[in-house]
Amino acid sequence: MLKPYFKSDDKMFYLLHGDTMKLLSQFEHQFDMVFADPPYFLSNNGLSIQSGKVVSVNKGNWDKSHGFDYINNFNRTWLQLIREKLKDDGTIWISGTYHNIFSVGQILQELGFKILNVITWEKNNPPPNFSCRYFTHSAELIIWARKSEKIPHYYNYELMKQLNGDKQMKDVWKLPAIARWEKSCGKHPTQKPLSVLTRIILASTKPGAWILDPFAGSSTTGIAANLANRRYLGIDLEKEFLEISKNRKLEILDSQVAENYRKKISGFETKNQLKEYLSAEPQPKEKVALGYVRSKDLGKLKKTNTFYFHATDKQGHFIDFPYEINNAKKLIIYSGGRTKPFYLTSYCAEIESIKIKHKSKIEGKENSKTEYYFEVQLKEQFVENNNVNLDIDLKKLIKQYCKENQIKSADYKPILLDEVFVYK
Ligand SMILES: C[S@@+](CC[C@H](N)C(=O)[O-])C[C@H]1O[C@@H](n2cnc3c(N)ncnc32)[C@H](O)[C@@H]1O
Repeated sequence: MLKPYFKSDDKMFYLLHGDTMKLLSQFEHQFDMVFADPPYFLSNNGLSIQSGKVVSVNKGNWDKSHGFDYINNFNRTWLQLIREKLKDDGTIWISGTYHNIFSVGQILQELGFKILNVITWEKNNPPPNFSCRYFTHSAELIIWARKSEKIPHYYNYELMKQLNGDKQMKDVWKLPAIARWEKSCGKHPTQKPLSVLTRIILASTKPGAWILDPFAGSSTTGIAANLANRRYLGIDLEKEFLEISKNRKLEILDSQVAENYRKKISGFETKNQLKEYLSAEPQPKEKVALGYVRSKDLGKLKKTNTFYFHATDKQGHFIDFPYEINNAKKLIIYSGGRTKPFYLTSYCAEIESIKIKHKSKIEGKENSKTEYYFEVQLKEQFVENNNVNLDIDLKKLIKQYCKENQIKSADYKPILLDEVFVYK
């Protein structure tokens, strides 16, 4: 079973420990946006200058140079895997330098992504070039691409324009390199500044969006995402970096610290502009979970305050990671399917909590073909709610839901619908 290394109490921040290449295929969740800062493969024993001192450019074993074929194979493998994790209208941002960015750009196009922009992030405080034989390295490149040539993506044009003095935002961003206050939980050798990630996230996602970082490091992506009310899953090989990530999240669970950080993030005209913008954004709608029960079992519902959804598919992969179903506050039962079309019943209950359980721990499900279940604890037993809209075309809504979430068939799995569809 895929167990998160860390999951925050507010269910906005998840970390997985291990190799992205192996972990990405072990869960089914699809994301609105991916930010990836993959190894640049520049740890070749060269030298640079930091705070006036000559330092090695080596970052760690994960960043060692292994030649072009290795870099291309590495990039092709993770980009192929990540494509499956992106919603059809989703976008991906990949940062790099000349060591890896041309390889990434070519492979993106080979795989059918459409490149939207190549952002030049110009650091206004770069380290000097001590050889004095070429220009100071003062920029990093960030490719922005969408999954599909044809399916439109989201771009927050108005906000970007506003942040650029009411002129269209350019693809050259002048933002400072990492500041000391961003390293309060420890040092990662290639930590990105929150200002860059905040601009990326606000430009390309809506509130509540799910964001994936397959090379999380200290989870700058996750911190920027959560500070902007977006959700995050990060993956890294090194426990040391996951600990920094976890501590950074624990730090911003304190709303005062979070507020303070929002004020310090560069790229805004005033200290309060980010806070004000976020509070004016529409909040994501609450979801209602639909659960399937055979017609002959409907009568038993009023005697229980526990409900089980399948949590793994036939291959044993989680059908919903990181537990999107946790967003549901209410559970409504639907039935039908074999002898008559799917229909909504009026059985309704408030959800107390949702946990993942193995079949061996659930009475009556020990011999099930499904390995894991979502155990939904209800606040009280099911009641019949007269406001449930029994006339809705459930078949159509389920079909639409499956299409949007790229699920082949929905039976027994949780379906999440907006409240407006379910109530009169
Ligand atoms: C360039 S750093 C990311 C830094 C990050 N953007 C930040 O702000 O802290 C790349 C990270 O990828 C991790 N990494 C390298 N190869 C990996 C792999 N195959 N699976 C998971 N993580 C990997 C490294 O441990 C490193 O922390």
